Amino acid sequence: MKINDINHVAIIMDGNGRWAEQHNLPRFSGHKKGLDKIPEVVKELINNKIKYITLFAFSTENNFRPQEEKENLHNLLEFALNKITKEIRKNKIKLSFIGEIEHLPKVLIRKIENTTKSYDINYDAELIIAWNYGGRQEIIKAVNKLIKQNINNINEKQFEKLLYTTGTPNPDLIIRTGGQKRISNFLLWQSAYSEMYFTSKLWPDFNKKDVIKALNDFKNRNRNYGKIN
Ligand code: FPP
Repeated sequence: MKINDINHVAIIMDGNGRWAEQHNLPRFSGHKKGLDKIPEVVKELINNKIKYITLFAFSTENNFRPQEEKENLHNLLEFALNKITKEIRKNKIKLSFIGEIEHLPKVLIRKIENTTKSYDINYDAELIIAWNYGGRQEIIKAVNKLIKQNINNINEKQFEKLLYTTGTPNPDLIIRTGGQKRISNFLLWQSAYSEMYFTSKLWPDFNKKDVIKALNDFKNRNRNYGKIN
């Protein structure tokens, strides 16, 4: 049996709206339930020695959702940050964000800055929240930095340094809940050789047993990166 190394798991948390609909609840309740699911899943991943966990929580495209839903999601983020600050520090988890955070309401930006401050400790894991994130936006941002600096020749390693994810290994496994089988502008550069795991389970129903299922599935994949083994 082939056992693959795994450091980084990224998740597209899809299906909150449908979960709410199935339970005759407003969409907001689906997002709240989805938020409540995060600690269980993150803990299980950390128990399985995953060092980096990226969660796709708000895409650049989500900006086109109704104002009320966007505000609800911003409020949920603020609520979550208030709630988890102590817990993540106690559990030696480093929190960070990728995405256009600078366009968020000022109060939220301040809160994110406070919660993501680094302390001089050895972190056991890093939790990365993708918020107002889009893979194309990230790549264009990097290209614009090059143009500004008049750089006209660059290699992959140098380009990676211009991405939000600089210093973070590429995701080994990307899990998408909610039944759709697509990447939806998530980690476009970084997912070049990621293994994909799709499940029809809606995010609020995804649990620690499902984490184990996904990790076990990953272990048996043949990762040859285009070469012949
Ligand atoms: C996709 O479900 C999910 C989102 C757009 C938001 C994800 C947010 C959370 C899990 C909670 C907030 C998280 C943090 C970190 C504060 P959807 O609404 O597209 O579901 P649907 O496809 O069933 O409509």
